This record gives sequence, structure tokens and C-alpha cells, in this order.
Amino acid sequence: MTDVTGLIGGLHHITNVTSNQEVNRRFYTEILGLRRVKLTVNQDDYLHRHLFYADDKGTTGSAITFFEWPQLPQGFAGLSSPHHLSYSVPSLESVPRWKSWLVFNGIPVTGPLVRDGRVSLYLRDPDGLMVELTFLTNENIKQAYLDETGKNLEEVREVTKEMRLKKFDHASPVTADPSLAVTFFEKVLALRNTQSLPNPDQSDGKIVGIGSGDDEDFLRYLAPKQARDGSVGRGSVHHIAMAVEDSEGQRKVKQRLDEIGIRNSGIIDRLWFRSLYFRDPDGNLLEVATKGPGYTKDESPQSLGSKLVLPPWLEDRRQVIEKTLDDLDSNNRATWPPKFPEVPKVPEKLRA
Ligand SMILES: [Fe+2]
Ligand SMILES: [Fe+2]
Repeated sequence: MTDVTGLIGGLHHITNVTSNQEVNRRFYTEILGLRRVKLTVNQDDYLHRHLFYADDKGTTGSAITFFEWPQLPQGFAGLSSPHHLSYSVPSLESVPRWKSWLVFNGIPVTGPLVRDGRVSLYLRDPDGLMVELTFLTNENIKQAYLDETGKNLEEVREVTKEMRLKKFDHASPVTADPSLAVTFFEKVLALRNTQSLPNPDQSDGKIVGIGSGDDEDFLRYLAPKQARDGSVGRGSVHHIAMAVEDSEGQRKVKQRLDEIGIRNSGIIDRLWFRSLYFRDPDGNLLEVATKGPGYTKDESPQSLGSKLVLPPWLEDRRQVIEKTLDDLDSNNRATWPPKFPEVPKVPEKLRA
């Protein structure tokens, strides 16, 4: 059996669904302070957009991406449709600053909440996608302390350098069978079960962490007592991509999948990285993507994301693509600011 130990190095990107690229762009750049690093089309559905936001350099593990599919109904979390994603914030002090900034922009926020070593805020993007902003701390922080400091929020009117979002902390899909999920990641990808603990937000539910040596818990499966089917639609996670260093590592992962008999897409050249797709036992769509060549493959670092770029094999269709996207926009007008969806006020409701 091909050895894949140590090949998976955390998350690469997380892809989601939005109904409107303009509202989506304003939210992720103006509110969350990310940079658009690629404006392109969905290579498997090239008459619709694919939008990439990341830190300034497009660092692996910082990119949140969206397929623009205005025609899709609202998605909901459950089996095959992950519950939420989580970005790391740089410091504990930045957590209340983020809260102040979000509230200033009229965005409902739950938290800060202390959750097994993390201090987190929860919000929803304009399409309803649940986003967690979290600081992983080893200190024993008490909720009462946070509640107290929250009373004296300083007024924050911009995303300062000290607040900039870093990489993802984790993604949280849903599993109906946590031990099967653990076995899957151990046997197939040589990842490990970092911890399993009661879900503080869900009576009888568990949280099952999956990670590798140096990237703890980049997947945190929610295992409710009774998991129900989810549906991918607007405002939901479409797939979760994990990183491999290079094509050689990816080839080994593909070989391992084949040896075990797990159906997969084969390796697909996406221009900025190479992709390999398959599903976990709960039906969640996973990807293993190479770190390179990266988003500067076809644009300079300064101009990343500033105009519509197409992979060379779609260039001859540029005219019809641009026309279709224009038509799509005229039938899909939206206003800013949108009415931001509420997040549940009490943790009990942060359930799958
Ligand atoms: Fe989380
Ligand atoms: Fe992807």
C-alpha cells in the first residue's frame, strides 16, 4: 500500500456558494478585509463565476472561494453539506475588535464564546454561510472575563493590520458515524484523530478532530446524535480542499485512493493548482490540491484578482463567457448592504 504519511498539510481552500458576486465581494473584502486574488469562471461550469479571496499573498490555507450560482435554492447544513468554516484571527485582543467592527456594520454576531481552547465569534455572510472567527489559545480563559471585557468595546471603524484574518483554523462537516469518519482519515490519508469531545452546543453531540502532526484539528466534524441530510445550495460549503506539497505527493494520494477502491476524479489541472476530488463516507466532497504553481501563475502579485482571467483552454470562449456573465449580472441586481442573516443567539442553536 502506498505510504501517504505526512503528505496532507492542513487546508488548501474552502469553496462555497454565493448568489451574487458583487455583494459577496464587498462582504469578503470590505467587511472581512480579505483580498480578491482571482476572478475567474467555474472550470466545470464555465458560464458561472468562481471568486477567490485570500490574504494579500494568496497564501495556501487562506483562500475562501465561491461559485456564483444565483439559481440555486438556499442550502442547509447536514450530511454532505458542511456546517461552518473558521478563520484564525491574529490575537485574543483582535476578537473584541472584530466584534465591534462587525456590529458597526450591522452584522449580527454571536460571541465571543469560549470553546475548548478557542475564543470564537460566529456570524453569517450575506448568503447565510456560517463563518467563525477564532483565536486558538492555550490559556484558560473564562467566559465571564470575555463578557466583562465585551462591555467596554473600543469602537473599531476599520480592519486594521493587527486584525487581519490569517489561515483557516478549521472546517466543520457533519458525520453520522464518527468512528467511521476517523477510520476513513486514518486509513486513507494517514491523518489522525486529534481529539473527540462533547459538543458544548449540542446535547449528546460530539466534536471529532482530524489533523496531522503539525496541523492540529483542521477538520472538526460535528457528530450530532441524529445527523440528517444536508443540501448544498446558496450559503453552503461546496467542498473542502486539503493541501499537498507537490504533484508527487498528490500522485501518491491518488494511488492510495485507487488501492483502497475509493472513487475519485483523477488529477485535474486547475492552472493555479492541481486537484483531486473524492467524498468521505458521509458524502462530503473533499479535494486534495497542490500548493503550486499558485495564483501568480497568470497574474502579477500586484494585479491579482483585478480582472476576469480564464485558463488558456477557455480563452477561445471568452466572448460568450463575458456576454453571459454580463447578462447574468443584469438579471441579478442586488443592493448593498444586504439584510444580514441572523446567527442563533444561544449556543444551543449552533447545531447541525
Ligand atoms: Fe468551529
Ligand atoms: Fe476546490
